[in-house]
Amino acid sequence: MGDYTNMSGYYDLIMTSGYYDYPKIVNELLAGADFHQVLEIGCGTGLILEELASRKKDIAITGFDLTEAMLAIADQRLHDFSNVQLKHQNVTALSLPGQYDLAFSYGGVWYFVMDGVNEPFLVSHIYDAQANLDGFAKVAKHIQSQGRLLLGVQGPHRDYQSPIPNGYVYSQTIQPIEHGFTKHYFLHDGDKKLMEQRIDYRTYSFAEALDMLASFGFQYQAPTQDLPQFQSFVKA
Ligand SMILES: C[S@@+](CC[C@H](N)C(=O)[O-])C[C@H]1O[C@@H](n2cnc3c(N)ncnc32)[C@H](O)[C@@H]1O
Repeated sequence: MGDYTNMSGYYDLIMTSGYYDYPKIVNELLAGADFHQVLEIGCGTGLILEELASRKKDIAITGFDLTEAMLAIADQRLHDFSNVQLKHQNVTALSLPGQYDLAFSYGGVWYFVMDGVNEPFLVSHIYDAQANLDGFAKVAKHIQSQGRLLLGVQGPHRDYQSPIPNGYVYSQTIQPIEHGFTKHYFLHDGDKKLMEQRIDYRTYSFAEALDMLASFGFQYQAPTQDLPQFQSFVKA
């Protein structure tokens, strides 16, 4: 399962050094249809929720995450936003009161990899196939009819290392495994290893992903732009 405890203390440093573009992600969330109750699946340290909450005061915002250490940082970050609630939950057993008109995951539990050339595919932080079905079933229960599920889009994974502004070096390696890949994450200060994390990801072809999502009532809405920030589904 996608536990981020090891990375949590360095997560913001790595992500805000250019890994994700949070204002752009929120621009695209806000460019779609109106929403009033929104749920982030795998909200991590709350970087997207902070950007969203600072721009939208009149909506109810909920984020949940599996990793307590990530949520503790989100809790500090979002303390002053009275319209934001955070929950410690695993998506496979998600249980929240009420339903949402928008649920999204960006780099969270599920995301699509697209490069505009090759066939897109779905990546899951959950390696077990049945647990993925359980997770989508739970998410479906929490979205209103005609509500939307948005799953973020990322570029292709590759091995690389790159310095971040404070001089530390972030690196990652990708190894194929049956039904997916293993990703190792590292952060070094010179020769000193500050952080190491390993996650086994499951992947689904685009057709398998659309079938799986359709089986939970999620109809795919093909994007109008070439490389969107999200792939969009409407719940029947
Ligand atoms: C790459 S981080 C993305 C965080 C945030 N969305 C962002 O954009 O910065 C992935 C997050 O998904 C969470 N996660 C992974 N598996 C999960 C699960 N089964 N249920 C809930 N959260 C999960 C991890 O704990 C981690 O915080």
